[in-house]
Amino acid sequence: MNKTIIITGGAGFIGSHVVRLFVAKYPDYRIVNVDKLTYAGNLENLSDIDRNPNYVFEKKDITNSESIKAVFERYRPDGIIHLAAESHVDRSISNPMEFIMTNIVGTTTLLNAARTLWGNDTKEKRFYHVSTDEVYGSLGAEGYFTETTAYDPRSPYSASKASSDHLVRAYHHTYGLPVVLSNCSNNYGPNHFPEKLIPLSINNIKNNKPIPVYGKGENVRDWLYVLDHARAIDVIFHKGKNGETYNIGGHNEWTNIDLIRLLCRIMDKKLHRKAGASEKLITFVKDRAGHDLRYAIDSSKLQRELGWKPSLQFEEGLEKTVDWYLANEQWLQNVVNGDYEKYYAKQYEAR
Ligand code: NAD
Ligand code: DAU
Repeated sequence: MNKTIIITGGAGFIGSHVVRLFVAKYPDYRIVNVDKLTYAGNLENLSDIDRNPNYVFEKKDITNSESIKAVFERYRPDGIIHLAAESHVDRSISNPMEFIMTNIVGTTTLLNAARTLWGNDTKEKRFYHVSTDEVYGSLGAEGYFTETTAYDPRSPYSASKASSDHLVRAYHHTYGLPVVLSNCSNNYGPNHFPEKLIPLSINNIKNNKPIPVYGKGENVRDWLYVLDHARAIDVIFHKGKNGETYNIGGHNEWTNIDLIRLLCRIMDKKLHRKAGASEKLITFVKDRAGHDLRYAIDSSKLQRELGWKPSLQFEEGLEKTVDWYLANEQWLQNVVNGDYEKYYAKQYEAR
């Protein structure tokens, strides 16, 4: 094998697409997926590639320094692509501590393990930290987040991610660790856990359940197809400059309510329902606490310097996503069994 890369969080939504891309595209790399398998980690996401000779899975918690040290010693990675995180804003509002542990302590544990393994021999080594646009805070009607926008995180989730970003940069400046970072906008696509807006709405529409829209549905998100994010991670990992940050986004802003209406139209067509039938499920519920109004990414640095651009139009990507969920009924069933129902009841019954 030419290189060994540890991908953390590889059993999650984005991580599984990154693992699949790397395993298929780089047969001479050994890909080690390190994942704790929380409620969001699902090895079914990788069932098509898990027998590949260049793929290994290690069930490990990134906050456990002993087991992470042992994994680093065993595989001696040349690169880390770090995606493992607690990722859902609503869960961070009800239980911030998990976010502090995984996102801050877990990231620092990985930074320490990389530093210990590589020492001063950092030639051809890379620690890639995958982050979010939420660290920049909330925009008004105008403007975009650039790589130099001041950090202004406003939820426990975004504050924990901001903190991890600062630590990654601090290890670069203080110890010379070779790092690269990216901050991406909202992803959508196959394998997305149905606690997030798009897959939750697809599942509810399919089952004729209310679609819970927070507040008036006027909040704006900038949506990117998950494979386009995975492609950006590939480009940044291989060509990004040491110590740099790259913003990734789709230039694809939608208010939540317009997005849900589009999704309802697509679902009516796919489920052979009368036009307008699914829209009747839209239900306005109590707003998220501290709900950020608008995110919008300026990804011109990544496009200009590394030649990446999104490949899919939103309508096409959303239709592909709906097709995937309708064709993968069993995946969805397995995911919504058990704890999901308890979470859903707690999160939505009081709204
Ligand atoms: P996800 O919640 O779907 O997956 C997270 C994965 O991390 C799961 O497989 C989980 O088991 C694993 N994990 C959690 N805690 C762990 C621990 N302590 N040790 C080891 N593994 C652990 O998340 P996602 O949506 O795929 O996001 C992946 C990364 O991308 C996160 O860092 C997130 O902040 C970032 N990001 C996500 C989006 C988005 O729209 N989803 C956008 C920008 C950035
Ligand atoms: O911007 C990147 C971030 O995008 C990532 O860092 C996060 O990991 C990811 O979860 C996502 O965060 P959001 O909070 O934007 O995503 P979510 O799908 O939870 O919500 C999208 C919008 O929809 C947001 O304005 C809240 C709203 N919403 C969400 C849910 C779950 C609803 O109106 N109803 C809902 O039931």
